[in-house]
Amino acid sequence: MKRVGKWGVSLALAALMIVVTACGNNNNNGGNASPSPSAEVKASESASPSASPAAADKQVVLGFAQVGAESGWRSANTKSIQESAAAAGFDLKFSDAQQKQENQIKAIRSYIQQKVDVIAFSPVVESGWDTVLKEAKDAGIPVILTDRAVDSKDTTLYKTFIGSDFVEEGRKAGQWVLDQYKDTQDDINIVELQGTTGSAPANDRKAGFADVIKANPKLKVIASQTGEFTRAKGKEVMQAFLKANKDIDVLYAHNDDMALGAIQAIEAAGLVPGKDIIIISVDAVKDGMTAASEGKINFIVECNPLLGPQLMEAVNDVLAGKEIPQRVVTKEGTFTSEQAKEALPSRQY
Ligand code: AHR
Repeated sequence: MKRVGKWGVSLALAALMIVVTACGNNNNNGGNASPSPSAEVKASESASPSASPAAADKQVVLGFAQVGAESGWRSANTKSIQESAAAAGFDLKFSDAQQKQENQIKAIRSYIQQKVDVIAFSPVVESGWDTVLKEAKDAGIPVILTDRAVDSKDTTLYKTFIGSDFVEEGRKAGQWVLDQYKDTQDDINIVELQGTTGSAPANDRKAGFADVIKANPKLKVIASQTGEFTRAKGKEVMQAFLKANKDIDVLYAHNDDMALGAIQAIEAAGLVPGKDIIIISVDAVKDGMTAASEGKINFIVECNPLLGPQLMEAVNDVLAGKEIPQRVVTKEGTFTSEQAKEALPSRQY
């Protein structure tokens, strides 16, 4: 009787500890019901193999607030995030903001309410994030930025920013134009299709390009307007550019999709893209590379959308309490028409 009583008490204590630990596990971040570390160890030692997983084995919940589905680049980026999250064994909560900041803020607030382990997002625009980022910080949920930056002065509001150097992309585009027209005696009329107004890639690609071409006063940007990173808007704005300007020499599009839309407008106007109007774009997605290999786009600056693996690694590092760099810059190249032809068969996106 005495022996049975002792085991009975031990089992009851072990069961109580498992319940306490399980309550702690549900309380993802910063709750006040967490058991002491020693209670966790004891409970998992007492648990049978079929019992609930201990805190360390809990599936990571990642909330990702995507910009939208505006371009081929974005589709490749979404695929990369979803596939990498699945490969990492994470529970991915994914939302599409349809290029609207208010939708992204709503999604982030819902991830905070759901007490996800980490929030990641590509901010539609650069400004206006401090309040919601502070809410995440106060809830003890780390935030990782991917693809696009925010202009918050307080860099403790996020753990890291993984993505391209958009100013550098604009500079590469500008350098190619500068080199092409180094001996020109005539004015070169450039039209620019900007990305989404207020977004980091639109601001930075414009600034980088302008900074380089100013070295030659013959290079003149005669019109510059947003095409919202979409094919439809790129076509529409290019039609308006062609109507308003007789003599366009160069089109600089902040992404391939807008360049592809503009090509339709140029062809419809009876002009030859890549010859009558020289075209430079950014991204190097398959459709853009195909147009480049056909000579319709003359130069593409690469912007790599495959950020998923780096993001999942950063999530693991942040949750493990490791120090991670505040900025991780993606490595990227450029393609002339000839280089695009060569690279196209092995292109992943
Ligand atoms: O933020 C990256 C940019 O967003 C890509 O260059 C563009 O295609 C996308 O929509």
